[in-house]
Amino acid sequence: MVEARIKELRDTLEMHNYNYYVLSSPTISDFEFDKLMKELQALEKAHPEYADPNSPTQRVGSDLSKDFASIAHKYPMLSLGNTYSEGEVRDFYERVARDLNESFEIIAELKYDGTSISLTYKNGRLTQAVTRGDGTQGDEVTANARTIRSIPLKLMGNDYPEEFEIRGEVLLPWTEFDRLNKEREDQEEPLFANPRNAASGTLKQQNPAIVASRKLDAYFYYLLGENLPADTHYDNLEAARKWGFKIPRVMRKCSTLQEVFDYIAYWDTERKKLPVATDGIVLKVNSLRQQKNLGFTAKSPRWAIAYKFQAERARTKLNFVSFQVGRTGIITPVANLDPVLLAGTIVKRASLHNADIIAGLDLRVGDMVYVEKGGEIIPKIVDVDKEARVESDLERVVFPKDCPICGTSLIRVEGEAAHYCPNDSGCPPQIKGKIEHFVTRKAMNINIGPETIEDLYDAGLVKDVADLYILKICDLLRLERWAEKSANNLMKSLENSKEVPFGRVLYGLGIRYVGETVAKRLVSVFHSIEELEKASFITLTQTDEIGERIAQSVIDYFADERNRILISRLKEYGLRMSVAKDDFENQSDKLKGLSIVISGTFSKYSRDDYKVMIEQHGGKNMGSVSGKTDYILAGENMGPAKLEKAKKLGIKIISEEEFLNMIGQ
Ligand code: IVH
Repeated sequence: MVEARIKELRDTLEMHNYNYYVLSSPTISDFEFDKLMKELQALEKAHPEYADPNSPTQRVGSDLSKDFASIAHKYPMLSLGNTYSEGEVRDFYERVARDLNESFEIIAELKYDGTSISLTYKNGRLTQAVTRGDGTQGDEVTANARTIRSIPLKLMGNDYPEEFEIRGEVLLPWTEFDRLNKEREDQEEPLFANPRNAASGTLKQQNPAIVASRKLDAYFYYLLGENLPADTHYDNLEAARKWGFKIPRVMRKCSTLQEVFDYIAYWDTERKKLPVATDGIVLKVNSLRQQKNLGFTAKSPRWAIAYKFQAERARTKLNFVSFQVGRTGIITPVANLDPVLLAGTIVKRASLHNADIIAGLDLRVGDMVYVEKGGEIIPKIVDVDKEARVESDLERVVFPKDCPICGTSLIRVEGEAAHYCPNDSGCPPQIKGKIEHFVTRKAMNINIGPETIEDLYDAGLVKDVADLYILKICDLLRLERWAEKSANNLMKSLENSKEVPFGRVLYGLGIRYVGETVAKRLVSVFHSIEELEKASFITLTQTDEIGERIAQSVIDYFADERNRILISRLKEYGLRMSVAKDDFENQSDKLKGLSIVISGTFSKYSRDDYKVMIEQHGGKNMGSVSGKTDYILAGENMGPAKLEKAKKLGIKIISEEEFLNMIGQ
């Protein structure tokens, strides 16, 4: 009985460790994870006969991945004990007081919710950046860390130790997180669930250029080494701030437990205004001598503890689970709930992510469930109130084997959590999704909404995007809700769409990974659909910004005969399948040889438009300001760091108007 439970807990925790650290894609909350871990620790303690050196309690998890060099940490990277109540914080405070038996100070800090990093500096220069890994050894990600602007490569002043380590958190600010997810949505890539996953995923990118483009930030909170400047944690961090590190200004010295509680209460709400995600408070004994006296357990220091903010949570009834089929065929289970107020909004639906989550919760229709809004954007079900389950015959929620819409057997790719419907050309939501994408403003700009598409599809009039162009007014008038005027409007809109430039048509086709930017990029090199179709994998990957994944997707698209037929029909109906002469007329070499950095927000055109314009006129758009930059095209709210750098390097800053003048617009 006990042995079986221990095994079950070990297996479950191992799986979650893997999801969290290796896949960067956790499937349960930290709170749940800690609860299971505590249960396992208690059982192992009570039953030492079942001890196992490979138990998840014996390690702190691993984010090791195969492609980076593994580096042993000089000082192990430990984790912190977690607490969830004021009572537990009091216990910690009282234990420290008892063990030290003298007065002490506590430094309260925010617990940043990103991915931890340890930096080594020798003679004032960054020599190494390593992730936490399993706590003993981590991945060497120095090249990536160098791209993070807030990490100093060379220190200021001269009073730093010859060699030291500094630890902190790599973070993706909320605004960048939103921007990145929007971009990924556009490219049909899976979204990051929260900024933490986005930060750790980014830091482990093989290509430092991608890392640089994502604008990570890094906050530091722990200095280690032989000859530190001060004998308190606080003063050491203050010294590090002077050397150029980003040390959060929100840390506070507390001399009483009440001050600690006040800090917690204040930041529980104020933290929501911060630019980065936080998930708790960290309390540390200030004096290094006292830290040393208190020492460490196997996994964490006795002189520090984390207090985790309670994610906002509500209890409500699960009415039923629906299974949605997305444009790309992925099946998403959605919990339909009795409406409940959570963190200021009414929640009626919650994500259940995938089949594993449903099975893990042992979910039944009619269950009372707990919904949480933590670091995630969409609320999720984190627990079931099993005690409230009075009827014993509640129906278990089962994940369907077949597509709920078209009945095709679902597929699950080895190693992936999601199920999807492979019937991409016959499954209605996938077809309708493709049409919806085709008509959007950024693609063909055809004036119809999802409901109309649904009607046209249901009436059997439109089964793919090409069918739109053979619609007849008399067909439309036979349908409900259509009148002469609306039918004429659609005809006009379809006619106008034949003028849409090739780049947008290509984007509208919905080739996987070919978002707006990629489409523009492809069109600038391959001037017609025939040229693109003929391009080999190698030719494609030799194109700037086109990686292997995109190249393969393009190849796969043209390999499918149904797509080739679709394209030839669209061509026959008059859509632009090549770069038109006047597309070229937009081009010049007015910016030839010039490197231009774009910064800030603009009113006349979007940032992406300006990017395209720079390239159309022979210039090069660069992500960061350097000695090679010729101009900075600055909108409103240009980043202060860029501004300062530009001034220092004497780079000319131009406005939108000046830029448009330069290209003769
Ligand atoms: S101190 C020995 N301070 O939380 C103490 N950690 O569970 C080392 N974290 O791995 C950590 N904010 O990634 C410390 N202000 C802070 C922190 C912080 C976030 C993370 C860090 C660490 C984990 C501990």
